[in-house]
Amino acid sequence: MSPELLKNIAFLVYITSTICFILGLKRTTKVSTARSGNRLAAVGMLLAVVGTLIELGVIDDYRWIVGGMVAGGLIGGLMAKRVEMTEMPELVALLNGFGGASSALVALSVVWSEVVEVATAEQTVAELVTGGAASAVTIALSVIIGSITLTGSVIALLKLKEKLNKGAPIMLPARHMINAVLLLAAVGGIGYLGFVAVGPDDVVVAALAVTAVSLVLGVLLVIPIGGADMPVVVSLLNSYSGIAAAMAGFVINNPLLIVVGATVGAAGLILTQIMCVAMNRSLLNVLVGGFGANEGADLGDQEYHSVTSCGPEEAAMVLDAAESVIIIPGYGLAVAQAQHTCRELADEMIKRGTKVTYAIHPVAGRMPGHMNVLLAEADVPYEQLIEMDQINGEFKNTDAVIVVGANDVVNPANTDPKSPIYGMPILNAHEARSVFIIKRSLSPGYAGIKNELFDYPNAMMVYGDAKKIMQQMTTELKEL
Ligand code: TAP
Repeated sequence: MSPELLKNIAFLVYITSTICFILGLKRTTKVSTARSGNRLAAVGMLLAVVGTLIELGVIDDYRWIVGGMVAGGLIGGLMAKRVEMTEMPELVALLNGFGGASSALVALSVVWSEVVEVATAEQTVAELVTGGAASAVTIALSVIIGSITLTGSVIALLKLKEKLNKGAPIMLPARHMINAVLLLAAVGGIGYLGFVAVGPDDVVVAALAVTAVSLVLGVLLVIPIGGADMPVVVSLLNSYSGIAAAMAGFVINNPLLIVVGATVGAAGLILTQIMCVAMNRSLLNVLVGGFGANEGADLGDQEYHSVTSCGPEEAAMVLDAAESVIIIPGYGLAVAQAQHTCRELADEMIKRGTKVTYAIHPVAGRMPGHMNVLLAEADVPYEQLIEMDQINGEFKNTDAVIVVGANDVVNPANTDPKSPIYGMPILNAHEARSVFIIKRSLSPGYAGIKNELFDYPNAMMVYGDAKKIMQQMTTELKEL
């Protein structure tokens, strides 16, 4: 087959692959179609690999390609099989890091093959690479953004695992100044690498220096941000990895990589924005860091004064008489892996004629859609899951609310201008007739502050592990 024909076939495969990615992404926006969306995107990825192999034509040695596919496939498959639902953000962070690293490596390999191995005299990179000056800039940007994504993602992963300063912000003195200097150095590197005529050895040194500066920048940009804000950072890094991939696409003139990279870049940015809005924080406020490191800040009275508690039996008696119940799941539900038990409790109430719905806060848990995915795993019907804006008006007409391992998302302190969660939209659980809060203690949630709901006269703590407490509630209900 002629190289021209191979190129055309590859192009058709790329277009089909792009369609699979875009439709797959669209389907992941709804819980009911998310699984098939994921499968469609996986088919898109397979087609991308097939298209690349077709475009390459017959080559002498397939060992590296096959070895890479087998090793990558095995590692990815094992990681996806083993990961716990609560560790999903960590997995996404790692995959973003890999994406960034790949783009940087693709760009560096072009520097090697088209400049270092070819240059005979002192020449600029822009003179040597196909695509000229634009390509030289794109290569450098790909290296910079890809490297920042790699180390930033590794730091995000360590923070999520609380392996770095227990997830708390690390505030270096003069950090903005240091970051600005490093950024200038990286931009200077673009100019030097692209447009100053130097020998191949100097190109290698410059490329490695730009990579090293960017790797350090990735670390420094993420360490001041608290573990709690990591999902936003991970989403932003996801966007960076897309931009780096699009840049790499320009470098090697691959339309699929450009389109898919740009799609990931835009999707990551939109998700970041959605999370910021749901927390009522600006992206700049998240990125400057320090949230949660509020020692010394005047947070008002952090003591509880009128907390009441009850056991699962007492709660079951109220639930038995309730005509309407709203369940509010939070991060603790994921920690306790109590999604199946939660559904059993809901089923028992529905059997008795109670109207049961689930109120979903956009940032409940540790990643977007965390609660939806968790409840879908327990086959909770999608129509029982109601988003915050739709359900908030219902609480005042609701007999009982069960808050399961949620904290910040039901904290009425959001109206206090001194509170770190001031302005964050919450689920209005406090408006219901009775509120049962299942958690193990009075300890705070992610924002690290007192929850004013616990002091409300209609609120009752049911202390214990979410799974155990809901099992006991279900048993008690069955006996009534
Ligand atoms: P949190 O405010 O973190 O509260 C979770 C509660 O679960 C804790 O107070 C904990 O209390 C309880 N818990 C832990 N393990 C438990 C178990 N085994 N059984 C029962 N309870 C358990 O969670 P939330 O209400 O879901 O709020 C999410 C937070 O994450 C928000 O502050 C949000 O801004 C932040 N955040 C989320 C996202 C996304 S996209 N979801 C992104 C960025 C930030 P005990 O220790 O007393 O049990």
